[in-house]
Amino acid sequence: MSQDASTLVIGTPRLALRHLASEDLDALAAIQADPEVMRYFPSGPRSRAETLRDLERCIALQIEHGFSLWAAIDREDGRLIGRCGLLPQSLQGRQEVEIAYLIARSSWGRGLATEAALAIRDHGFDAIGLDRLVSIIHRDNLASRRVAEKAGLRPERMIQFMNHRCWLYAIDRRDRGRH
Ligand SMILES: CC(C)(COP(=O)(O)OP(=O)(O)OC[C@H]1O[C@@H](n2cnc3c(N)ncnc32)[C@H](O)[C@@H]1OP(=O)(O)O)[C@@H](O)C(=O)NCCC(=O)NCCS
Repeated sequence: MSQDASTLVIGTPRLALRHLASEDLDALAAIQADPEVMRYFPSGPRSRAETLRDLERCIALQIEHGFSLWAAIDREDGRLIGRCGLLPQSLQGRQEVEIAYLIARSSWGRGLATEAALAIRDHGFDAIGLDRLVSIIHRDNLASRRVAEKAGLRPERMIQFMNHRCWLYAIDRRDRGRH
């Protein structure tokens, strides 16, 4: 399965979010092999083969749903510095769509995840027409919880997700202007 890496989905001042493609494997595998980046993921650091499977899943999701995780490209130098986007999730019998973000450690602390999350939220509501968005966040992942809060999501309840205690953060479209 292949996909065109030139398809831009969202532009922000510092980031281009575009379709992931098979040629992103080296860059994404390097990021997802970092134990610090993968610290709060139940699966831990990913092997190259696992990242290849992730890429294939993202490409399939884009075709099936019209959204997926996208490559986050630093517009300054054109490098892939993460993957962010929208993921369908089935949670306790309810179909949800999650705002997801993962940034390379070398690019942390510059406000890039927040910039991406805000743009993805607006894309989810305005371009895709979703009414509600969630984020599933390990309770100890304080940086991620802060990003969700800055994007206007609020902690709704604790859930068990892949054997981890996580916060379910959520925002309804009608509440967007309030934050
Ligand atoms: C979570 C993540 C995406 C944040 O990326 P980032 O680009 O550094 O995020 P931002 O700079 O936009 O914002 C981070 C916020 O968290 C805060 N923060 C960072 N580390 C923190 C910590 N240990 N405790 C509390 N707050 C923290 C920052 O101060 C900042 O908030 P502020 O703007 O109010 O100061 C990044 O750390 C990452 O990719 N982590 C690994 C993957 C991951 O866990 N993804 C989320 C899965 S749910």
